[in-house]
Amino acid sequence: MKIIFASSTTSDPDSWIRLLEEAIPGAEIVNWSDNSGTVGADLAITWSPPHDLFLREPGIQAVFNLGAGVDALLKLPGLRDNVPVIRLEDAGMAVQMAEYAVYALVRASRSFDRYQQLQGERRWEPQQDIRRRNWPVGVLGMGVMGARVAQMLAALEYPVAGWSRSGKALPDVQSFAGSDTLPAFLARTRVLINTLPLTPETRGLLNRETLGQLLPGAYLVNVGRGGHLVEDDLIPLLDSGVLSGATLDVFSQEPLPTGHPFWADPRITITPHVAAASLREETVAQVAEKIRRYRAGEALTGIVARERGY
Ligand code: NAP
Ligand code: GLV
Repeated sequence: MKIIFASSTTSDPDSWIRLLEEAIPGAEIVNWSDNSGTVGADLAITWSPPHDLFLREPGIQAVFNLGAGVDALLKLPGLRDNVPVIRLEDAGMAVQMAEYAVYALVRASRSFDRYQQLQGERRWEPQQDIRRRNWPVGVLGMGVMGARVAQMLAALEYPVAGWSRSGKALPDVQSFAGSDTLPAFLARTRVLINTLPLTPETRGLLNRETLGQLLPGAYLVNVGRGGHLVEDDLIPLLDSGVLSGATLDVFSQEPLPTGHPFWADPRITITPHVAAASLREETVAQVAEKIRRYRAGEALTGIVARERGY
């Protein structure tokens, strides 16, 4: 069975391949890139693979994604409908995502951004005490990432609600299910944290109209995908005071171009798509176990429902 490792962004692919070969007995894994010829691969382990991967390797029978999101992968030409795509499930990402959400939220709710400004001016000015009821958080997407974020923020005693397609029952987290409930979810939310997958249904969901339904002083945290946000709407929403700030980890174009207006806007905090990284050891262990199960014909989790797009 020929396995290829096809990632255009992983630094040091050789170390990943070495670990994967150790974890998958008998496997020989080829580092596949733009310059590789066709090797006749049976399985692919991928992240941001070259555009023509499936055209050049039509024999691929299953694809193992080195991340949670499969939006880029599902767009590639030549990926047949009957080829299973298996995504990463947590593997150490959910706790990072929850940590990132805490970082973004408390900078606003505890005035830490303001204190940083005041320090620059050598001013000792305690801001208003926090009243948690004034900071209701809404989490879009209640899957592996969103559920962990919601649980973490509920443990910090913020009022938390989660929105998903099917609803998710978690202690101390109000559940909203389906598109009909989106207006009510937005109307009770001040800090909106997006952890949705990017699909045809969710693209552009964060826009002038939806963000305009949030509570006064609203704050946006986007850790899903850049394509969720209508980026041209953001600065006008900040200028009009509908939003008080935003923390963005993902962008429609990555890296964010140096001339992009978001860089220079003090109301926007930017991180370079690092909210939850695929950690090498955890990822290798999970992918190796998924490949073992696949080859043994055992049940697998993390299979992407191609018709839903996640
Ligand atoms: P997941 O477990 O598949 O969860 C997806 C959630 O979104 C589910 O709760 C699902 O609802 C909900 N959802 C999907 N489409 C919906 C729709 N049309 N309406 C309402 N809810 C919808 O995925 P995950 O592991 O949590 O990852 C989510 C996303 O996070 C990834 O796709 C990726 O884009 C992003 N991510 C970003 C980073 C980063 O570093 N920035 C890292 C990892 C992941 P149901 O529960 O009803 O199915
Ligand atoms: C990262 O963005 C992922 O989807 O795992």
